[in-house]
Amino acid sequence: MSEIYSVGIDPTVLAKELDEKWTDKYPDIDQSRVSYESMTSPEFYELEREAVFRRSWLYAGRAEWVDRPGQFFTKEYEVLRNSIIVVHGHDGNVRAFYNVCPHRGNKLVWKDDPGEPIEGVCNRFYCKYHGLGYGTDGKLEVLTDRRSWFGDQGKELALAEIPLASWNGFLFVNMNPGGPEQTLREFLGDYYWEGFAWPFEKLTERFVARGVTQCNWKGLMDAFNEIYHGVYVHKEAFPYLQKMDFDALQAMHVKTMALVGQHGFYISPRNPQGLFVTDIERISQCTGTGPQYPAAEDLTRLPPAANPIHTDDWGTSSHFIFPNIQIQFYYPNWYLVYQYWPLAYDRMRFEIDCHYQPSRNFSELISHYGHVATFWDAALQDINNLEATQKGLEMGVFQNWPLTDQELMIRGFHRQIYDHVARYREERNLEGAAIRPERR
Ligand code: FES
Ligand SMILES: [Fe+2]
Repeated sequence: MSEIYSVGIDPTVLAKELDEKWTDKYPDIDQSRVSYESMTSPEFYELEREAVFRRSWLYAGRAEWVDRPGQFFTKEYEVLRNSIIVVHGHDGNVRAFYNVCPHRGNKLVWKDDPGEPIEGVCNRFYCKYHGLGYGTDGKLEVLTDRRSWFGDQGKELALAEIPLASWNGFLFVNMNPGGPEQTLREFLGDYYWEGFAWPFEKLTERFVARGVTQCNWKGLMDAFNEIYHGVYVHKEAFPYLQKMDFDALQAMHVKTMALVGQHGFYISPRNPQGLFVTDIERISQCTGTGPQYPAAEDLTRLPPAANPIHTDDWGTSSHFIFPNIQIQFYYPNWYLVYQYWPLAYDRMRFEIDCHYQPSRNFSELISHYGHVATFWDAALQDINNLEATQKGLEMGVFQNWPLTDQELMIRGFHRQIYDHVARYREERNLEGAAIRPERR
């Protein structure tokens, strides 16, 4: 067996004895209850917007979406009251710009609804308000009513560029006013920067689910940061769970998990009950966990950072990238990206992008459709459940959570959030440093 991959982390955190706890591997992580004030406080949310989202590298999209010169997409960041354009310039460079016209501030690129993202191909962006045109490099190319401008004020107009960086084709932007505090490489850390190469660009068949739900953005992410709830919430979507006896279900624990700087991951075991349980699964050659036909290319060998312990019977390998996305590999040959975007302290927008290898025939396409139907069903079970959680938290009966060892990722993530907000408060001498996880 090749060596455990542990660039930048302590390899001993990746394995444990039966009677050990994963959380014990992190002596500086408090094991007492965790305050969930960050889920129910509008004031905390306002701080979080600046302390977390303004400073972090944020996911924008995949490089394949802007493969050709002129291709672009827009992305809404309601949490920062911003929108951006990512465009492959006709000079060959991919750039990001704030999606606003520098003349009188009209939102530049949108179609029917200015709040909705769009994508397309163009030679130039024309502002709908007074007809100024900007090249795909952000420079002004068309000035209307030329004689009415004062001096060079018209000619000098240009779109405002935003730092953009790519990590294995995942494009990130940083909207910190003074520029990024860290490079994307520093932000991700060596473990992820060096160990995540995989042919993501080959999985170009994408199914997208977007929606708004009434819960704090961290709540839904928490649901995807543990597998503890799966056997209770998802029995219908994953029928094999119904076939397992209670003891086997109870034994479904992660194969490994680790906190990696601000980020973290877990690897869950594969469905131990064989593949198809229902007729519809058999006919469409898919289960809730993915299309099951022999794919054009076998991609079951994960990048080292996604399977550092070289386990053969991995089912999912789920990577939480701070602050608000998860990249999840599913056995056998597909991956997805979850995005959790805050809209208010108690409202969020989720986006789920399922990526498959392009279907070669109708039955493979049916398999993809069959899978996303089941998978989105499962996601809706989580989302619906989280609305109930938000309502429960807001009753204010309890103020903190006792998290189990299976919920280490949640503990680590909430600690990061509280630390970022505490640092922000300290820097600005803001009151209220008491908002911290409760100590034992
Ligand atoms: S606001 Fe864009 S051209 Fe006037
Ligand atoms: Fe779930």
